[in-house]
Amino acid sequence: MTEDIKEIMLTEAKIKEKVVELGSRISKDYEGKVPLLISILKGSVVFMADLMREITVHCDIDFMSVSSYGKGRKTSGVVRILKDLDTDITGRDVIVVEDILDSGMTLSYLLELLKARGAGSIRLCTLLDKPDRRVADVKVDYCGFVIPDEFVVGYGLDYADRYRNLPYIGVLKPEVYSN
Ligand code: IMP
Ligand code: MG
Repeated sequence: MTEDIKEIMLTEAKIKEKVVELGSRISKDYEGKVPLLISILKGSVVFMADLMREITVHCDIDFMSVSSYGKGRKTSGVVRILKDLDTDITGRDVIVVEDILDSGMTLSYLLELLKARGAGSIRLCTLLDKPDRRVADVKVDYCGFVIPDEFVVGYGLDYADRYRNLPYIGVLKPEVYSN
C-alpha cells in the first residue's frame, strides 16, 4: 500500500495538532449549545472520530452518505443520498464534517438540503480544502489545511475505496490512477 504513495503531504503529528486546534475552536464557539456533528461518509470518519474527542461541549453525532464520485477521481456532478440522517435536524445547530472540499458540488447540494430541513444553524468543518478546483460557492467555517490541486489519500480519503487506513495524508503516485 505505502509503495503507491509519492510523498507524505501531512504527517500524523501535523494532522493531530490541527484537529486539537479545530476542536478547541468549536468547543468555544458552541459553549452552552449542543451541536449535531454530521459526518459525511465514508471519507470523514477518521477525521470525525478524532475531532469529536477534542470537543468538550455536549454534542450529538449522525452520519450521511452521498455519492458524487464513482470509483474515479472526477466528480460526476450527480449527488445521490445513499444513507440519510436518523436525526430530526429542525432547529439544531449543525456542523457538517467533511474530509475534503474540492469542486464543492457535493457540499453545496447538501448544505441547501439541510437548510431546507430547517436546521437552526449550519456550519462547515472540512479537514482539507482544494480551492483551485472550486466550482460551487461554499463557505468554510472551520478549515484544517488548504492544499494544492493534487490527489491525496489516507486518513479516511480514498482512491477506489482504498488507502483510507493510512494514518497520514499522502499524494498518490499518478501511475496508480492512470492505468
Ligand atoms: P466535491 O463535490 O468535488 O467537493 O467532492 C468532494 C468529495 O470528493 C470528497 O468528499 C472526496 O470524497 C472526493 N475527493 C475530492 N478530492 C479528493 C482527493 O484529493 N482525494 C480523495 N478524495 C477526493
Ligand atoms: Mg471519496
